[in-house]
Amino acid sequence: MKKYALALLSAAYSLIFSLCALAANEEQGSGAKKIIMQIGSSVMTVDGEKRSIDSDSAQTAPSIVRDRTLLPVRAVVEAMGGSVSWSDDTQTAVLKCGDSDISLTIGNASALLNNESVVLDVEPVIINNRTMLPIRFIAESFGYAVGWVGRTQTVTIIKAENADASFDFKSRSVALNNGVEMPIVGIGMFTLTPEQAENSVYHALSYGYKLIDTANAYNNEEGVGAGIARAGVAREEIFVTTKLWPTDYEDVDGAVDETLERLGLEYIDLLLLHQPFGDYIAGYQGMEAAVAAGKVRSIGLSNFNEESFAEIMEVADITPAVLQVESNPWFHQTEMREYAKQYGTVINAWFPLGGRGQTQAMFSEPTIVEIAEAHDVNPAQVVLRWHLQIGNIAIPGSTNPEHILENISNFNFELTNEEMEKISAMDRGHGSFDFGGGGEVPNFNSFEAP
Ligand SMILES: NC(=O)c1ccc[n+]([C@@H]2O[C@H](COP(=O)([O-])OP(=O)(O)OC[C@H]3O[C@@H](n4cnc5c(N)ncnc54)[C@H](OP(=O)(O)O)[C@@H]3O)[C@@H](O)[C@H]2O)c1
Repeated sequence: MKKYALALLSAAYSLIFSLCALAANEEQGSGAKKIIMQIGSSVMTVDGEKRSIDSDSAQTAPSIVRDRTLLPVRAVVEAMGGSVSWSDDTQTAVLKCGDSDISLTIGNASALLNNESVVLDVEPVIINNRTMLPIRFIAESFGYAVGWVGRTQTVTIIKAENADASFDFKSRSVALNNGVEMPIVGIGMFTLTPEQAENSVYHALSYGYKLIDTANAYNNEEGVGAGIARAGVAREEIFVTTKLWPTDYEDVDGAVDETLERLGLEYIDLLLLHQPFGDYIAGYQGMEAAVAAGKVRSIGLSNFNEESFAEIMEVADITPAVLQVESNPWFHQTEMREYAKQYGTVINAWFPLGGRGQTQAMFSEPTIVEIAEAHDVNPAQVVLRWHLQIGNIAIPGSTNPEHILENISNFNFELTNEEMEKISAMDRGHGSFDFGGGGEVPNFNSFEAP
């Protein structure tokens, strides 16, 4: 693999640079937000505009490699607002972007990133074994994130936003990648009747909750709206998440209006595509239009895997702010967490306590019991505290006022690194459902997944 990558790397650089020396582009622009390149195409899209890969650059040498599956490093770096210079003497290309620079010498297995040596045949060099130039390494070094969609053979390079989104335990919130503040603990509405939803929301808001998580498919949005109205809390004090079902992805505008009607609200704080089924591309674009229309503040995804998330990134003008997926001590979602992090997308855990019917098994786990005893708290609080410390927004569901109060009282203690590690050992690496994605839209009435 190493030899293969190096040979291709070398070939690519020879093709790009060795015809003649390239003058450095002194002008460094602010940099594109999104670059899309499709293997085999001589055209790329830079912030929505088509750009010919070989004609844009008024350089003294060709910047295009259309041969085989090689992508043009130079075009990418320039689109990022960077510059490329080449030394014939040392056979070295110097790529500069922002405060960073990369020196790549033909035939070398390592590069210099800000004067520090980096081995080039590490995983980021190759995108799914298919894109042969170190686009990923270069993009990531320059603060961009890279997604790859195998189905369309497309690489999407996006300026990473707010990638360090960290939880503020004082305000109990996180700044999403669009700057909107989202509470980090809330209450979930799955399986609740409208009456139960109203009561749970009412109690939650009375206890100081700010975040409510519902969905069109839960059939209890009217109850949520009634609970909000009953609690009499100012609209701007609360954050309402709801989700669109795949059958509505082709008429998001109508679905959003109906949702607002049911909730009795004028805007939704966070709207998610509930499942990666049906025409989720149209669904996502519909949500972007709803943001532009002022009906929705933030948008995100639920139950999307890397592949379907990357497909969204290919068309997205708005980076998903939140990814809601199953996560709890049995299923840490480590890979998806890393994947989402590069876009500053925050993970929101569903089944945070293990899910209805499974919570007692979770609360009886020896590790959880031992830690709960050590802190003199209950097992649910340990699990919820773990979520917050790994960066999961948690939305435990409950119809029990005592539980509702307990679940927001998890800010007075902290799990040690050792305790966090013990909980890491509980990870089974899989959850309750495999959503797959991309296939038939599940029947709304008979589909039993959450
Ligand atoms: N995006 C998706 O596809 C998806 C899928 C599933 C869920 N969700 C969202 O995630 C939310 C959470 O999931 P979930 O409600 O299904 O599962 P969960 O939060 O893991 O578990 C809920 C269960 O925990 C119990 N519980 C809550 N607090 C407790 C406490 N302090 N002590 C003891 N038991 C406690 C509840 O019983 P009591 O009612 O008796 O308190 C209920 O049986 C949902 O409500 C929904 O909003 C999203």
